Amino acid sequence: MKENTKTGECNRREFLAKLSIALSGIAGALVAIPVIGSIIAPLFQKRQEVWRSVGAVESFEIGATVQVSFIDASPLLWAGITAKSAAWLRRVGEEEFIAFSVNCAHLGCPVRWIAGAKLFMCPCHGGVYYEDGSVASGPPPRGLYQYPVRANNGQVEILASPIPITTT
Ligand code: FES
Repeated sequence: MKENTKTGECNRREFLAKLSIALSGIAGALVAIPVIGSIIAPLFQKRQEVWRSVGAVESFEIGATVQVSFIDASPLLWAGITAKSAAWLRRVGEEEFIAFSVNCAHLGCPVRWIAGAKLFMCPCHGGVYYEDGSVASGPPPRGLYQYPVRANNGQVEILASPIPITTT
């Protein structure tokens, strides 16, 4: 009778140990799958690009650099105001424009256009860019990102897309 009790305890202990290992494995998988998925998902996502209108061609003065806003290429349904992005737009000819990202190439802070100095200035770490978007001084590793821009049916359109931000 005692042996049966010991065998029963042994079986129950083994069962609980195996159950514990199985539950630990399931819990580990429940945590690991979303983490691994979020790491590798960007590798398989297609880069979203879409032309966004930022205003009529005639509303921009030749030679002036102004800030324009537009909706991101792939806004999330619940993004609200955060789906808005911005660029510094300069009209350089009748139908020629240049559009610079407002995000600093260092860590992404919004840069300001100082018309009097003809410089873009970043308030975060003192990054400075010339009017052509190239780096004048400070930590930015490269110039400001330039969006493709076109005049189409009387509207200025910017090719909205995720902009590269690097720290090296
Ligand atoms: S984020 Fe602009 S200089 Fe650092």
